[in-house]
Amino acid sequence: MYCKRQFSHHIKIILDQYLYERRMIIWVRRRNMDITRGKTLASGYEPILWYSKSDQFIFNSKEAKIKPPKRLLQRPEYQKGGRLEKGISLTDAWTDIPALPHNSKEKTEHPTQKPLKISKRIVKIFSTPSGTVYIPFAGSGSEVLACIFLNRKWDATEINPTYINLIKKRLKNCPTSIERWLPVKEKIN
Ligand SMILES: C[S@@+](CC[C@H](N)C(=O)[O-])C[C@H]1O[C@@H](n2cnc3c(N)ncnc32)[C@H](O)[C@@H]1O
Repeated sequence: MYCKRQFSHHIKIILDQYLYERRMIIWVRRRNMDITRGKTLASGYEPILWYSKSDQFIFNSKEAKIKPPKRLLQRPEYQKGGRLEKGISLTDAWTDIPALPHNSKEKTEHPTQKPLKISKRIVKIFSTPSGTVYIPFAGSGSEVLACIFLNRKWDATEINPTYINLIKKRLKNCPTSIERWLPVKEKIN
């Protein structure tokens, strides 16, 4: 679950009562959202809360690898058959995926849209190809698209009709049908 820095501690206290905390991932957006007018520090990160329902949880460690930094790429460990060839372990501080710039082709009018790259990473690491990914707060549909690109089954809810239409628009060009889309009202009724 993505959550605003201001709310993450409150949300954690609630989730801790029902679920198992695995990690708080810090996504360093790099492009800061400077709406402070110089009155305080600009915000440069966003917490992502990873929780599981039980001690059994999905974690695809092979997908949790990233390319080593340039200084390591020259080392023998990185050459074919070397220890680092498959990449280095991803930590809980994600600094390698910047937020979408306003002029990005991917960008929609959703104010908190996440880059597809980060949505794909989450889906790859925390779901299995045969499972169904449930997306409770679909927003602009980045995780929905990630599931489609990665051939995962999915169910999603979104409370705001404007964003539901936005997702439908994004899905139009996708190679699968949109019948899995369940607006939150249908889900409740
Ligand atoms: C942080 S945004 C999700 C952004 C998404 N990850 C993306 O990349 O577009 C959260 C979304 O949850 C929706 N939302 C809030 N409360 C909800 C609820 N009770 N049920 C379904 N959707 C809800 C909001 O309308 C908002 O679009």
